Amino acid sequence: MRALIIGSSGQVGSNLERACAVKGLEVYGADIKPASKGLYIDVSEPVSVRAAFETAQPGVVFLCAAMTYVDGCEKNPALAEKINVKGTEITTACCREAGSKLVYLSTEYVFDGKNGPYSETDAPNPVSVYGRTKLEGERLALALKSALSIRTTVVYSYAPGEKNFLMQLIDAARSGVKMRVPKDQYSNPTYAPELAEFMVELVLKNKIGIYNVVGAERMERYSFALKACEILGLNTSLIEPALTSELGQTAARPLSAGLKTDKLKKELGRAPLGASDSLSIIKGLLSNGRSA
Ligand SMILES: NC(=O)c1ccc[n+]([C@@H]2O[C@H](COP(=O)([O-])OP(=O)(O)OC[C@H]3O[C@@H](n4cnc5c(N)ncnc54)[C@H](OP(=O)(O)O)[C@@H]3O)[C@@H](O)[C@H]2O)c1
Repeated sequence: MRALIIGSSGQVGSNLERACAVKGLEVYGADIKPASKGLYIDVSEPVSVRAAFETAQPGVVFLCAAMTYVDGCEKNPALAEKINVKGTEITTACCREAGSKLVYLSTEYVFDGKNGPYSETDAPNPVSVYGRTKLEGERLALALKSALSIRTTVVYSYAPGEKNFLMQLIDAARSGVKMRVPKDQYSNPTYAPELAEFMVELVLKNKIGIYNVVGAERMERYSFALKACEILGLNTSLIEPALTSELGQTAARPLSAGLKTDKLKKELGRAPLGASDSLSIIKGLLSNGRSA
């Protein structure tokens, strides 16, 4: 099967490229800043999306491109709408025309965080522009009968030069900079390579609809930061707990969030590991001199 990964230079997209290749899929990566052999795409521009479909002739399309900077979306809702909603509408239309399966990346930020963790059937109620535009995108994607929407959260991996939460933590610790981390935002940190592996498995098993794919341990961001420092041998004294209300973030955050994976366990017989196990994998890879 031919897979088109839109947003292939990003954290989830780059891990998906590897997970698809492992399962023997023929991969076409596309991004607004494509890697050397990748295709150019701007999801908000129909001409470029059509061109990527014509080149890739995809059986499956993974839509990972999005405006993911939560506070940036709050400051520029028109741009968030253009990329996260219009971009999904254009991609969905191309999937419909080409008969391609669509896999949309969604988020726990579709919830208000009043009483998480949430299952796939709980009622969404986003509290930010990012959450609202991602939910609108999800609804557009799911109008396609064969579409899958994967809801995830706090995705991390060891990727030097990237800005995921784990890398921000490692960079701050290595340069001796203090980092204030919220102690009241609960969610399930999710290891990107495992997320990608589960996404491909769901596609190969012809699953449709919404699936939560997150790490097994639900914890607040501060505990995750401490755990990561302890396991990776970083200085924990630089990590300072803070309330979200003290951090001056532009967009509201769902505080008591997190997602349940009962559906995944029931249908696949397994679910992703918890943060302790995934961080230990990263430690093992690093001590063997390999990238994680
Ligand atoms: N990371 C998380 O914790 C998390 C949690 C829940 C859900 N998600 C969802 O998972 C998906 C992937 O997230 P990620 O962490 O991999 O994000 P990411 O690292 O920011 O990757 C997104 C990629 O899309 C590209 N992009 C942005 N605007 C584009 C456009 N108009 N056309 C084409 N490409 C564009 C980005 O390029 P630039 O970098 O140049 O902008 C980037 O390469 C997103 O839909 C996100 O909402 C992520």
